[in-house]
Amino acid sequence: MLGSMSDPVPALARSLPKVELHCHLEGSARPATIVELAKKNGVALPVDDPTELFHFDDLNSFLAVYGIICQSLVTADDFRRITYEALEDAVADRVRYREMFFSPSFAMAYGVALETVWDGIRAGLAEAHADLDVRCRMVLDVDKGGAPSAATDLVAFAAQQDRDLIVGIGGDSTERGVDHSTFLPAYELAARQGLRRTMHAGEDGPAENIAISLDVLGCERIDHGVRLIDDPELMARVAEARIPLTVCPLSNVLIARMIDDVAEHPFARQREAGVLVTVNSDDPGMTGTTISDDYEHVARAFSYDLDTMEQLALDGIEACWAPDDEKAALRTRFLAEFDAGRADADMAVRGMS
Ligand code: HPA
Ligand code: ZN
Repeated sequence: MLGSMSDPVPALARSLPKVELHCHLEGSARPATIVELAKKNGVALPVDDPTELFHFDDLNSFLAVYGIICQSLVTADDFRRITYEALEDAVADRVRYREMFFSPSFAMAYGVALETVWDGIRAGLAEAHADLDVRCRMVLDVDKGGAPSAATDLVAFAAQQDRDLIVGIGGDSTERGVDHSTFLPAYELAARQGLRRTMHAGEDGPAENIAISLDVLGCERIDHGVRLIDDPELMARVAEARIPLTVCPLSNVLIARMIDDVAEHPFARQREAGVLVTVNSDDPGMTGTTISDDYEHVARAFSYDLDTMEQLALDGIEACWAPDDEKAALRTRFLAEFDAGRADADMAVRGMS
């Protein structure tokens, strides 16, 4: 879907340099890789083509499919491969910096050791940093459907790793009916250990889960945060404190199915209220969409101009957890790439006239 001649911005938005802060490793695995790994590991998938599995009507049915996909991931080399490939795909979308979630509880449920998961991811990151023009840090997500004590154990593991490889922790999986405050011991430990903290909240649950994540758990970012729009007082506080939301507009249409179209997403209203919203893909392998699709859809749905789309890319830098010097270097690079992109677009228009 390219932009029309009358509005070139959606197409131009695709080629902007990007930061991505909400993207799950396991949900980024290529379907063809999942098929290969399942065969290699003797895991019987219920279908030959995993894309046939990718039918979900809500977050919980999506998570059931996520679990099936994760059965195919058994060895450290499997995790190395999906990490590397996820970053190869990110580069194709001009992602220059990513903070990527991994959710080890899913593989651990099938008997894979946490160390095996992590050894593979570390190897994939090292290879990607050597070969590819992208920098990535990981965020360990605890399973909100699991026991709070298991979450604390995962955080203790994360705390022992290099902060340049695991920068923080988050919480994903189911939201409905979960008392988010029960994860306080895990989040307190993370804070004591200097890990950054975020939480999926307000995706499939009320704005109250966002308030608990911020006020009880001490989160510095919120993943999704769609339902923030329901609590104007909280939204004003989030805006004032520059607490970023890592929004995944197409995921909200395709996975949680809270809206039928990106145009119905509160993204633009949240932004108008001063909230630091960022654009992200969530689970590109499973939705068959990429962050470029999200940029394109946001530009079209809200009729944003190129300045606004460039500002959204810069907002990703503000919201990320890279050291300040790295953020400054990213900003300089993005500004140069914006100029080059505008010059190319001008040449293309002149060539047509
Ligand atoms: N929400 C909750 N759990 C998830 C998601 C999500 O968007 N993606 C992968 N696991
Ligand atoms: Zn997510």
